Amino acid sequence: MKHTDEDLINAARDVRENAFAPYSNFKVGAAVETDEGNIYTGCNVESASYGLTVCAERVAIWKGISRGEKKFGRIAVVVDTEDLTPPCGVCRQIIWEFCGDVPVILSNLQGKTETVQMSELLPRAFDSKFLK
Ligand code: THU
Repeated sequence: MKHTDEDLINAARDVRENAFAPYSNFKVGAAVETDEGNIYTGCNVESASYGLTVCAERVAIWKGISRGEKKFGRIAVVVDTEDLTPPCGVCRQIIWEFCGDVPVILSNLQGKTETVQMSELLPRAFDSKFLK
């Protein structure tokens, strides 16, 4: 871990500005840190064909994967909601796949922050160990 939680939150907050969310008006920013200390960010990208929407968390992770990154750690998610917004079910599965049981840092624009562990968000997860 080369960055502070604050660094990740700031990166997620900044990239949230780029969210393409004209249909939901619900902008999300995410930032994931690799074991080597690189930060990859993502925002949600929506489509007029609603189901094609991709969440911020997956954009961040896929950007890292496509740059050849293999090991990820913490992820921060920033949304402008009073109640801190956790990753959706699909993103929980993807975070588990690529990050494992990492801390997930939730934050809003008022600076409220809470950290939850992935195993709390996705107990008894399905993953590659069942495929062996
Ligand atoms: N969204 C995310 O980007 N991440 C989540 O974990 C929850 C939902 C996005 C998808 C959609 O663009 C908007 O928020 C409303 O669901």
